[in-house]
Amino acid sequence: MRAAVIGAGPAGFYTADQLLGAGFEVDLFDALPTPFGLVRSGVAPDHPKIKSVTRVYEKTAKKPGFRFFGGVKLGEDISRAELLERYHAVVYAFGTMDDNRLGIPGEDRPGSYAATRFVAWYNGHPEAVDEEFDLSAQRAVVIGNGNVAIDLARMLLLDPEELAATDCADHAVRELAEAQVQEVIILGRRGPAQAAFTNPELRELGEMTGVDVQVDPAEVEGVVPEGEPTQIRNVEILKGYAARPSGSAGRRISLKFLRSPLEILGDGDDGPVTGIRLAINRLEDGRAVPTGDEEVIGCGLVLRSIGYRGRQIDDIPFDERRALIRNEGGRVHQEDGSPCSGEYAVGWIKRGPSGVIGTNKKDAADTVAKVVEDREAGRLDGERPDAEDTAEWLSSAAPDAVTWEGWQAIDEYERSAGEPHGRPRVKLVRLTDLMAAGRGSRVS
Ligand SMILES: Cc1cc2nc3c(=O)[nH]c(=O)nc-3n(C[C@H](O)[C@H](O)[C@H](O)COP(=O)(O)OP(=O)(O)OC[C@H]3O[C@@H](n4cnc5c(N)ncnc54)[C@H](O)[C@@H]3O)c2cc1C
Ligand SMILES: NC(=O)c1ccc[n+]([C@@H]2O[C@H](COP(=O)([O-])OP(=O)(O)OC[C@H]3O[C@@H](n4cnc5c(N)ncnc54)[C@H](OP(=O)(O)O)[C@@H]3O)[C@@H](O)[C@H]2O)c1
Repeated sequence: MRAAVIGAGPAGFYTADQLLGAGFEVDLFDALPTPFGLVRSGVAPDHPKIKSVTRVYEKTAKKPGFRFFGGVKLGEDISRAELLERYHAVVYAFGTMDDNRLGIPGEDRPGSYAATRFVAWYNGHPEAVDEEFDLSAQRAVVIGNGNVAIDLARMLLLDPEELAATDCADHAVRELAEAQVQEVIILGRRGPAQAAFTNPELRELGEMTGVDVQVDPAEVEGVVPEGEPTQIRNVEILKGYAARPSGSAGRRISLKFLRSPLEILGDGDDGPVTGIRLAINRLEDGRAVPTGDEEVIGCGLVLRSIGYRGRQIDDIPFDERRALIRNEGGRVHQEDGSPCSGEYAVGWIKRGPSGVIGTNKKDAADTVAKVVEDREAGRLDGERPDAEDTAEWLSSAAPDAVTWEGWQAIDEYERSAGEPHGRPRVKLVRLTDLMAAGRGSRVS
């Protein structure tokens, strides 16, 4: 039997691997000419070890029955109906590329940006290359208490030499070196014990070269560490920061809690950011409740890091409220609860935008178990075109599709460009260049 997996991020690769193991032939599609999803375009450039997980995916790609078609976008180049005609099983693994909105005045002023876009920009996602970020402010505010917020604070204050040795996109290396940011304030709407940071990430802030970390002792003093071990450790780490003598590094990260954004301030409707107005909260049963007090923090840059959000593609059943594919344990469902035969979801677009890379492995196993169950029950039976026929269809539907060999050529090009500079790679960030490198042609 033949399966299509749409999205070559961690969820897509783990699914492809397990489907191959279950005897399926697998075609893995991605909208980009490059594989690996957020491992390439999300994980921070100064975390190269995390990215080495791609070696596992490379092993999958070597297995018989695997094919990669990069630069093929579901909903544009190919449709849901076409996939269902051609494959016994179709697994959606296309992630959650949009940002959650705060829904407050001033959110779209110049100087207020979604984390999703800033992350895509510094990681060289082709759709974000031409975006502009004004980094001339001395004080930046990052809204949100997740690991992405920590990534952003680090990226804004990382020593330019350290950054220049990474695979950060060249345009971002240049602009971040010129950035004027001296202070980053990370804001949480709940307390230190409710933050979604993980321990190594929170600890890493305190280890940055030339950066002090500040926490107001009054904000952590009375906090009793309880809950999951991660939360307990987070509170201990934050208490450690609060106890540090005020440093003189020049640049600093301050973590502030129990504050919800009410308005992003600036002149008129579309003047640049000058500050942020906040509600001071207290905790009630773990929830943030406004006390009625407010505070204004002056700043010229706001990064909104309050989570990613899924987007409907084609007419795939979609739960608007949760912004995810409508599914039960991975089986795609209609609104009335009836299953869509042969259609499955996995990864962030199945369960929501949380969890580390490894979480998607177990998630893929759960979805693939459903596929196998349906196959055993005869629910996937029926004639489908073979691999060759499908390749022919694709050569007209997406004539510029990049194969696995094409990706290997891109990879080789990028690594060779990085080597003389001691960098893991220099990323190609334009689609035309990626496509050219994928064909072995000259890159502009
Ligand atoms: C900024 C950031 C940093 C992170 N850092 C870490 C970290 O350091 N360590 C860690 O363990 N986890 C990290 N994570 C979490 C980890 O990246 C996710 O758990 C994981 O990437 C989710 O996998 P996924 O396959 O569901 O989605 P994704 O990785 O988003 O992959 C989805 C893929 O689908 C493709 N796609 C989208 N639309 C279409 C379409 N229409 N047609 C075809 N293809 C499409 C995309 O191009 C993409 O390649 C981070 C997440 C973020 C946001
Ligand atoms: N190094 C790593 O391992 C790494 C790096 C990056 C990302 N990741 C993973 O990727 C996933 C996504 O990370 P993320 O940081 O995007 O999401 P996240 O962990 O879900 O954090 C989102 C944060 O935004 C806050 N928030 C949501 N809505 C808000 C609002 N309206 N106003 C104010 N704050 C709001 C949340 O607060 P509440 O809790 O109050 O809702 C939470 O603190 C996580 O699982 C993360 O661990 C891992």
